[in-house]
Amino acid sequence: MEFNKTIAARQSVRKFTEAQITDEQLKAILEAANAAPACMGQYDHLHLTVVQKPEILVQINAAFQKAVGDPNMQVTYGAPTVIYVSCKNEDEEIVKGCNAGVVMENMLLEAADLGLGAVYLFGVSQVLFANEEITKLLQIPEGFRTVSAIAVGTSADALQERTLGTDKISTTTL
Ligand SMILES: Cc1cc2nc3c(=O)[nH]c(=O)nc-3n(C[C@H](O)[C@H](O)[C@H](O)COP(=O)(O)O)c2cc1C
Repeated sequence: MEFNKTIAARQSVRKFTEAQITDEQLKAILEAANAAPACMGQYDHLHLTVVQKPEILVQINAAFQKAVGDPNMQVTYGAPTVIYVSCKNEDEEIVKGCNAGVVMENMLLEAADLGLGAVYLFGVSQVLFANEEITKLLQIPEGFRTVSAIAVGTSADALQERTLGTDKISTTTL
């Protein structure tokens, strides 16, 4: 897809079909993640966890429901694939956020380019990183914690036609 069309196509999708993404699509998304910049080139300060096993996704949702006290909340929106981005604890919070953010955006844009639906998940990671059971379940490496996650799959609804504009973010030009 032409680059600006990909940027315009990216949008948050929160309703997915049951169809799993293909191995080729997953590889493309992981390659996009690996192509992102990283603070001081320290790629060893980042870790990705791909979750596709339905029973693990069910456990993650259950842990989140328990943590927030809402048994109906579907925090991963039923997406067939969730990819967690974890960062090294030793990095400053802002560096963790920035490192995870650029990896996330590369993955979201790749998903859009592939015609997949995806959404940026933040709350889920913030609740779950403190949850020992889930950290173990996700096999998060020692010294890392989850910062954010992408939920990705096929959108259950038609994607919106979007155009690019400059009206959303206030901008000062000097
Ligand atoms: C840091 C960050 C955290 C976000 N956390 C969530 C989240 O936990 N759940 C969710 O459904 N969307 C989340 N989003 C998605 C935003 O709500 C969404 O990108 C925004 O409303 C703009 O809509 P769009 O993505 O369709 O353009 C998050 C986005 C960012 C950048």
